[in-house]
Amino acid sequence: MRGITFVLIFLISQVSLHAGEGMWLPLFLKQLNEAEMQLMGMKISAEDIYSVNKGSLKDAIVHFGGFCTGEVISDQGLVLTNHHCGFGQIQSHSTLENNYLEDGFWAADKSKELANPGLFVTFIVRIEDVSEAILKGTKEAQNTKGRQSIIDKNIDALKKSTTLKEWEDVLVRPFFEGNQYFMFVTETYKDIRLVGAPPSSIGKFGADTDNWEWPRHTGDFSMFRIYADKNNNPAEYSEDNVPYQPRHFLPVSLDGVEEDDFTLVFGFPGRTREYLPSFAVEQVVDVLNPAKIDIRTKALKVIDGAMREDAQVKIQYASKQARISNAWKKWIGESQGLKKTGALDKKQALETKFASRVNANPKWKQQYGTLLSDFERLYKEVRPYALTRDYFNEIVGRNIELMRIVNGLSRVAKSDDMDAGLQKRVVGYLENFYKDYRPEIDQNVFASLMEVYFDKVDGKYISDFAKELVQDADKNYENLAAKIYGKSIFAKSGALTKLVQEDPAAAIKTIREDVAFQFGRGLSEAYYESSEKEYTRINDELKELQRTYMKALMEVFPEERFYPDANSTMRVTYGQVKGYEPRDAVRYQPVTYLDGVIAKYKPGDYEFDVPVMLRKLHEAKDYGQYADKTGKVPVCFLGSNHTTGGNSGSPAIDAHGNLIGLNFDRVWEGTMSDLNYDASICRNIMVDVRYILFIVDKYAGASHLVKEMKLVRPKSGGKLVPLDKPTSKGKLKLKKGRN
Ligand code: ARG
Ligand code: ASP
Repeated sequence: MRGITFVLIFLISQVSLHAGEGMWLPLFLKQLNEAEMQLMGMKISAEDIYSVNKGSLKDAIVHFGGFCTGEVISDQGLVLTNHHCGFGQIQSHSTLENNYLEDGFWAADKSKELANPGLFVTFIVRIEDVSEAILKGTKEAQNTKGRQSIIDKNIDALKKSTTLKEWEDVLVRPFFEGNQYFMFVTETYKDIRLVGAPPSSIGKFGADTDNWEWPRHTGDFSMFRIYADKNNNPAEYSEDNVPYQPRHFLPVSLDGVEEDDFTLVFGFPGRTREYLPSFAVEQVVDVLNPAKIDIRTKALKVIDGAMREDAQVKIQYASKQARISNAWKKWIGESQGLKKTGALDKKQALETKFASRVNANPKWKQQYGTLLSDFERLYKEVRPYALTRDYFNEIVGRNIELMRIVNGLSRVAKSDDMDAGLQKRVVGYLENFYKDYRPEIDQNVFASLMEVYFDKVDGKYISDFAKELVQDADKNYENLAAKIYGKSIFAKSGALTKLVQEDPAAAIKTIREDVAFQFGRGLSEAYYESSEKEYTRINDELKELQRTYMKALMEVFPEERFYPDANSTMRVTYGQVKGYEPRDAVRYQPVTYLDGVIAKYKPGDYEFDVPVMLRKLHEAKDYGQYADKTGKVPVCFLGSNHTTGGNSGSPAIDAHGNLIGLNFDRVWEGTMSDLNYDASICRNIMVDVRYILFIVDKYAGASHLVKEMKLVRPKSGGKLVPLDKPTSKGKLKLKKGRN
């Protein structure tokens, strides 16, 4: 609470200055944001959004699988999230014969909904400020380690003393760089079934070309259902489970949006770093992003080529490719946006102002006088280690699958034998890995990326064994790859799995002696013993500085309103529907339409094909109740809400608390909002909920799902057209095809 109450008075006078910026904690909305939100058009109260005493909007919001957001949209536990959030599940139910990625999937009734082992959704029961209890005694700590161990003990004690229901959990997380702590009591449901998904030609329309871009025409949604035990409580999957009854679900508005309408996005943003000093941002733009971009450009070149050639590969590598390309494209936009908006200058200007205030105050000068020069020195010092770390993580840690499996099995290789339990887990792990593994593709990725690794990473951080192999191959990385993949059991799908099943002790020996294993482990061990240690040492100092800097900022700029960086906890961001100017003389409108989908249509293209049924509906203008005033079906719209990765699947909510859209992306020019939000070009992208309903109802014929929802028309006095009556003159008589 410290550092928060005083801002209120100031806030009222500053209204709308940076409307849109900020990811706010739901429990402080009343103090910090409600007045501004209402001035921006919101008709509900902070208590309607977050309350521990009554059902509120927060009871309809879930952390989906721990990486996305979802929302409950019916009294039977129906959950809406993005297509790209449910992608792994949709893929895992897909085969060449039943290709739900390609054709979509719609459960005809609840008995046809598909179970997803491992998938869960988490509700937030309540949030509490526990800073005092957690920070107790830390003033006396001698150093960072000492402080952390006091905090860990305090967290333990707090968890033990918190009364929970049997199925509840508690999470304690640092905020404002560890200057404050909050506790989240959570409730996690584990029986989550797939209800529906459009074909990728709708749910991923525009794929990578359009990803992170406006104008956008993607119907990026999928639907799941939460199942509970007979008492409505969380339970493992069981046929006896029943649809979950929520404390609150979001009504769905058919009235849509206009420019400047209020929008609220409620979800679980993953990670932002808004309070970095200029030295850090400079390093991201000049050093780290370019290296990572280069690595992924090379990996994608190999994978994209293979996917275009083979339909089976296209399924197997769809998820992997999307993951690699998504961050790749984001980093490119981030670097450009930071440069374009002069983020560095802005940070430097802030630092100048900070320094002059600090220097004018003897107490601050003593406490904070060297902060900025310390930052400068340490960021310079960490630079080579941070860069090596990115090379290591991207090449050895992430983008070569053979290296991933080597890392995945490193623990197993250390044991003497496997008991039945471990054996089963290893077999499961291997089966999952080899299901979608093509060694011939991976071998090419290996050759391409290892060349970068040995070129860029200082030899003193590389193991002798790896260096020898490179020498033996005459520094020809294709030869090196051919040799390793030719010999390694990991590159022979199924062989290792079989061995683990038949003779686990022999399997362990084989793993240890494997050439890929020795190569990969060698690289990891050499790295962790050298560069990573230096990195951690300096980074620990940086973290400590960052905490002091955060505290100092809040003290030195009492007139500013601060929001905590995203850390995968529940947040509210609010803004307005807004277009923007991406470059000189170009203005983007905030809404796209189905006409635009058709305009982008490229028959047979892997990114821009349009299903025949959708083209026919468009041709006949058979839009039902889902067109807007102009008679067109809206597809996506833009807002000034401050979102990040993890906000995907977050509901866009109108002034009255109804669902109007589904957040799924940001515009390319504004992806730097993770480091520096700029109201001029930071926009989030949402699918209009009317497009979602149009696809579910008109395209897929799954009107039973729409009937489950509560449709409202807050702007036009609440009149609704019943679903079963034809609403347009040219009602189509089409078989509900799936493509
Ligand atoms: N860019 C969005 C986000 O960061 C959407 C990603 C999924 N789409 C894709 N084409 N990879 O998650
Ligand atoms: N697409 C992101 C997600 O998956 C959202 C974003 O980064 O704007 O969470």
